[in-house]
Amino acid sequence: MKLLILTIKSFFQMNRILQSALLPLARQSANKLLLQNETRYFINPFQLRRLMSTLEKEDDAVAIYLEKHDIKVEGRNAPPPALSFEEAKIPDNILRMVMSQFDAPTPIQSQALPIAMEGSNMVGIGQTGSGKTLAFLLPALTHIQRSKSNRTENYTGPTALVLTPTRELAQQIEDVAREYRRSCNLGVIKCIGGESRVRQLRLYDNQPNLMIATPGRLNDFLQSQEMELSNVEYVVLDEADRMLDMGFEPQIRSILERTKKEKQVLMFSATWPDDVKELAEDFLGEYTFLNIGSIELSANKNIKQEILFCDQSDKMQTFLDKVDELGETKMLIFAETKRSVDFLERSLRKRHIQAQGIHGDKSQMQRSSVIQKFKSGHCRIMIATDIAARGLDISGVEYVLNYDFPNDIENYVHRIGRTGRSNAKGTSITLFTDEDANQAKKLVEILKEAEQEIPKELYQYMKIHRGEKMAKKRYGRQDGGGAFGGYNNRQQGGFGSRQQGGFDGRQQGGFNSRQGGYRNNRRENSWDDSDQYERRSSRRDDY
Ligand SMILES: Nc1ncnc2c1ncn2[C@@H]1O[C@H](COP(=O)(O)OP(=O)(O)OP(=O)(O)O)[C@@H](O)[C@H]1O
Ligand SMILES: [Mg+2]
Repeated sequence: MKLLILTIKSFFQMNRILQSALLPLARQSANKLLLQNETRYFINPFQLRRLMSTLEKEDDAVAIYLEKHDIKVEGRNAPPPALSFEEAKIPDNILRMVMSQFDAPTPIQSQALPIAMEGSNMVGIGQTGSGKTLAFLLPALTHIQRSKSNRTENYTGPTALVLTPTRELAQQIEDVAREYRRSCNLGVIKCIGGESRVRQLRLYDNQPNLMIATPGRLNDFLQSQEMELSNVEYVVLDEADRMLDMGFEPQIRSILERTKKEKQVLMFSATWPDDVKELAEDFLGEYTFLNIGSIELSANKNIKQEILFCDQSDKMQTFLDKVDELGETKMLIFAETKRSVDFLERSLRKRHIQAQGIHGDKSQMQRSSVIQKFKSGHCRIMIATDIAARGLDISGVEYVLNYDFPNDIENYVHRIGRTGRSNAKGTSITLFTDEDANQAKKLVEILKEAEQEIPKELYQYMKIHRGEKMAKKRYGRQDGGGAFGGYNNRQQGGFGSRQQGGFDGRQQGGFNSRQGGYRNNRRENSWDDSDQYERRSSRRDDY
């Protein structure tokens, strides 16, 4: 009997993973105890009953929460979600700061926080605008705080590292981290291309604990041995699928090799295509996989997705009419190439519409200034290449307008995800011409998953594309034609011609080239922002 009571008592002291595993057994034993008089000498039956009911309620609440938010976790001994920030075992100073901004964790935060706080490697996939940044920053800050006591005099370099594919995203994460600077006595450094190396080195000499970097610039510093990462024990790859897919892989490998052997690696994104999974595992070893919502490629359901069909020749007019129709709204417009961004900017300005563009040929100062103006509302229309497709959290963007359909479907999900952030609603409008027929099938899947209306034209485009593919297979050429004029008749040039350069000029290759496709184009990495690349990049867009 004593043994049984002891077991029950120690059950309440166990950690929650073991508790949930042993819960049925504990319930049985507790009920047995409650039936026995002897119990009262050892344990108060009321207390026991109350504890049991609390545990059951918690257990139910967890189950309901997991189901409600469609949270799936794979991995050994994953902890249950933290339904409040207090439950996430964050140090008080950090807790106070986060609770001054938000009432409760978002679903990805509630499940990622306990996993990351336990020290596990993890992949966290959750829709755009769902709060992934804090899901990796709060554990990073906790980690830094805990490891401060281990710092000796010879300690150099940061403890935690966040890698991002774009400079703008690095800047944004730094802004969020800086909010915790005072409460955590945190030193932050951002290493990105396009900004002063000297300044970054000076900041590095101040012994920052958190580094946020793009791989190109960081690698430059590592190669020149001006920086070292030997004390980094917490690494995040934000937008991880992009980082591994765009040819950053060798750079990431070389960066990770210079970090501590015993480290925690976390990867986050809203999309997780099959072709990066294996590569990611290479970096992660044993890890926990967390997914919120559909495991298929999926868009945020707060975004209303509209598709606007037009001929290639009418595209510009359709675009201008749409911009007029939307009136004085905050809008982010995406185009595929730097040239088209410039062209759209000029076209809107000619109509006295204040719009500003960003792309890889603009200086970092120009890029930052445009983003700043767009954020503050001084400029209500920003036009961008995919440089702005991922991670950027700009409040109040009501519309995302895709002038060009993105070259890969994951980017469609990220682009439209610049609206509908957090709990806000938003609308995306995508121009779709016969040139985009090859994307129709994937687009239909995304629309279906997000419970959006599916325009019948998309099914027709799917048919055309299937016909094209079969013709190509049979005759080895691409001149299928079809109900919409044949989307392969691009050789004739004109405004939208991709073969002859024309307005879109996609033949010039690089990231946007349909002939190579970035997946086959790793060496021509347009995301690379190392200084060496800066000098080379004149045409292709870079990130
Ligand atoms: N617990 C919370 N409750 C409410 N809003 C939150 C919470 N945590 C973060 N947010 C807000 O949600 C917005 C989106 O957060 P964040 O940029 O981290 O999203 P994300 O999941 O990284 O999106 P993306 O996939 O586009 O990178 C931000 O404005 C952030 O301040
Ligand atoms: Mg993000």
